[in-house]
Amino acid sequence: MCGIFGYIGKLDADSFLIEGLKNLEYRGYDSAGVAIVDNGKINVVKRAGKVSELKSELLKNKLAGTLGIAHTRWATHGLPTELNAHPHTDIDKKVTLVHNGIIENYLELKKEYNLKVISEADTEVIAALLAKINGKDNLEKLKKTCELLKGSYALAVIFSNEPNIIYLAKKESPLMVGESQDKILISSDANAFRKYCKNFYILKNNEFAKISDKKIEFFNKNKKINKQTNKFLNTFNFQNKNKYLMQDEILQTPDAIRETAQFFENFKDIKNYFKNIDKIYLVACGTAYHSCLFGKKYLDFLNVPIFAEIASEFKYSKPLITKNTLCIFVSQSGETADTISCVKKCKCKTLAITNVPNSSITFACKKTILMKAGWERAVASTKAYSCQLLIFYLLKCLLKEEKPKTKTLVSDAKKYLKTLNIKALALKALSYEKIMFIGRQGDYITAKESALKLKEISYINCIACPSGELKHGTLALVDEKTLVILISTQKSLKVKNDLTKKEIEARGGTCLIASPEEGADIKFPSLSRDLMPIISILPFQALACEVSILKGYNPDKPRNLSKSVTVE
Ligand code: G6P
Repeated sequence: MCGIFGYIGKLDADSFLIEGLKNLEYRGYDSAGVAIVDNGKINVVKRAGKVSELKSELLKNKLAGTLGIAHTRWATHGLPTELNAHPHTDIDKKVTLVHNGIIENYLELKKEYNLKVISEADTEVIAALLAKINGKDNLEKLKKTCELLKGSYALAVIFSNEPNIIYLAKKESPLMVGESQDKILISSDANAFRKYCKNFYILKNNEFAKISDKKIEFFNKNKKINKQTNKFLNTFNFQNKNKYLMQDEILQTPDAIRETAQFFENFKDIKNYFKNIDKIYLVACGTAYHSCLFGKKYLDFLNVPIFAEIASEFKYSKPLITKNTLCIFVSQSGETADTISCVKKCKCKTLAITNVPNSSITFACKKTILMKAGWERAVASTKAYSCQLLIFYLLKCLLKEEKPKTKTLVSDAKKYLKTLNIKALALKALSYEKIMFIGRQGDYITAKESALKLKEISYINCIACPSGELKHGTLALVDEKTLVILISTQKSLKVKNDLTKKEIEARGGTCLIASPEEGADIKFPSLSRDLMPIISILPFQALACEVSILKGYNPDKPRNLSKSVTVE
């Protein structure tokens, strides 16, 4: 949610900044801007809309300069206008900055310090405050300002009296610094500069940096500190072949599964962490929450109570936590604020399952299992979901001391994706007003995830319902304008599911069956009950993507959503 990028080097900053922002667009894309220093003068250009709007403007009117900061925004305070876009400056243009996060007390600060601002953005208050605060140097001013801020922030700041330096500050929102021979890059996601840097630094909460073209210095509240560099983990080279990232990411699922399964070998010690646990809470948001619902099923043999919880709800509940409780937090990005805020409440065993090494959740939790789904950039999560289910399955096998039966999973998934043709179904789906996904047991969870995918990127009114529950209310919605997709992967439930189909058809609705049976409207490969959900989501991810494209939308950048939701 919102992306920061920065560059200091020998070449013009503009193309690096635009490339960085493009890489970060998954974090927000309603407006964007850059500030580039040319001979000591800070020039700011901002545009409402996607990064491409800003790029066109910079192609028309080039900004020279080898130092710059940039931002792609996802509006929280104020509309996605040019005025509210970052970088923000104070009224006298002494301070220019970009910010990720939310300042909760910005209105109080504005009043207390009588700050003059012209936009609705909380960020502008930081610039105005920083310009007003006294201090012996810019670093001290930044530290003093940060002490007054309540909320979360990653900040990159240029002062007009020190235009060859970029200052950084961080609390709760991620911020990294990458270094190569001839340039220094700053980003909210290290993947965005991975192409240029082998090593990078990660700022921790309440740390600061002062960066020139000659050196990078780090500080905490009191003094200068030394920081260790981090290396990127080797990752499989995932290829982009299609127009949209989401199409690629669905097709990358088999490779992501293979990589994740191999990498899981490094986490086998986690078995000991499950000893003597009295219960498990599985906590996450969105798609990751759906993987927790499956997690509960995979781990139910443990015979301890297991609860799958939505993070934003769990936060305000009263979980029964003892020192033997295990809380598992699942997050593709490792940066979801709702999920991370729950970790603090859990004074017990904590385990993160995430796709991003060194993400905030890995620092918050005592243990981590990393997936290796590769960089996921389309807002709607796809390959990471299958990998999350796989991790739960591998955990089950590890704890039960059973050999995972994944030998042909990768080739099965590849074969299945090759033959999957969803276009006809997508066209059919377009002719209905309402779409429902239904199923029983695990299939109901797949139904929930399928409905989420379809609504988030195609904006079709779409719900999920347990098949058996339909007759207790939701059936009232079914008429000839309704398409119901009934997911039916378990033979033992077939008779019941056939009855449900009849109920729907009797009300004029269309019911399509998704199953491994011959003749199914949507055919799955034959897989065990444990492996089926890892694959059975694929046609519905592809369906959502296709419907979105057919409707003329960009599935990678759905309206009103962003991928890494770093605010609660
Ligand atoms: C947002 C995204 C979803 C994602 C959820 C959790 O809502 O739009 O696609 O599932 O966050 O993200 P996480 O990174 O924690 O898995």
